[in-house]
Amino acid sequence: MLKDQQTLTITNLTDVDSAEIPGQDVIAGLSSNPRYLSPKYFYDEKGSQLFEQICQQPEYYPTRTEASILKASGGAIAHVTGPCEIVELGSGSSTKTRILLDAYQLAGHPLRYLPIDVSDTMLKETAEKLLKEYPQISVHALAGTYESALQVLPKKQLPARIIVFLGSTIGNLTPGECNDFLAYVSQILEVGDYFLLGLDLQKEIAVLEDAYNDTQGVTAAFNLNMLRHLNQRFNGNFNIEKFSHAAHYNKQKNQIEMYLESAVAQSVRLETLDLTVEFEAGDRILSEISRKFDIADMTRALASHQLNVVKAFTDQQQWFGLLLCQRI
Ligand code: SAH
Ligand code: AVI
Repeated sequence: MLKDQQTLTITNLTDVDSAEIPGQDVIAGLSSNPRYLSPKYFYDEKGSQLFEQICQQPEYYPTRTEASILKASGGAIAHVTGPCEIVELGSGSSTKTRILLDAYQLAGHPLRYLPIDVSDTMLKETAEKLLKEYPQISVHALAGTYESALQVLPKKQLPARIIVFLGSTIGNLTPGECNDFLAYVSQILEVGDYFLLGLDLQKEIAVLEDAYNDTQGVTAAFNLNMLRHLNQRFNGNFNIEKFSHAAHYNKQKNQIEMYLESAVAQSVRLETLDLTVEFEAGDRILSEISRKFDIADMTRALASHQLNVVKAFTDQQQWFGLLLCQRI
């Protein structure tokens, strides 16, 4: 039951996801050399649950570090932006966003939240939970890709808007995709609106590699789940037992690279896509890059898209950064 002040709207864009026919990106990625897949295929229901588990692994420092920065800076952010509706890209379980919602609530600002995520089950469950936790909140959830959802954002209902992109999920975009993405965000925002960006920063390689090779094997399960998801989505026959997880840091590119490696020579079929892929033992699919940033470089990149960093927050070890930008 919705309380008097609350509203809940859910827009489902998963069927009208892109101009492309579903799976064309899978055909392109698996037919190219080197092979790659889009990290968005990690996130079916099971993948979203595994990601939540990753966030609790001792080696995976980004989540708890960003949460500590948000706790320390939430009040300042709410003060700078004033009453402002919160649009979140890749919102997942919105766990860290609650820290921001709490800060807005404490500042006496109205709470209007527009989470965007491809993982529709997680998105809907989270929206329902938020309505129970925040008696005054209005939620408009959009299930779809960043691009499809940003295209159909409803009209602004508060004096300003803040687009929030946490977790360093921007690091999962290639430099070219990142540049196009920032241009798009800048175009969506009106002058005076805000953008809050979480960034995992460059650091000792062992710390980075451990974060993607946790001893419990949760990241490995998360990576392999992508193949199970593709099987289910495109009527495929990937045998998960015949692939393994590999993750290492590429120093030249400042990025973690995560691969799915074929243990044997094998042939895999994705029936719906009419695609057969031949693997030799040791052949790899790049399933994710996770870029690690430098605050000064990103500040310049943002500025080139009319996004002016008004405040930069970090933790004591400078492992993670949170940039509050204003569209100028
Ligand atoms: N923001 C959360 C979750 C990060 S996990 C945090 O910081 O912990 C990345 C999230 O982005 C997942 O919930 C996933 O479903 C979503 N996602 C990944 N690619 C996406 C895309 N192309 N469009 C929309 N959502 C996407
Ligand atoms: C969502 N994204 C920022 C995570 C990352 O660290 O790049 C996804 C992830 N992949 C493996 N572990 C976590």
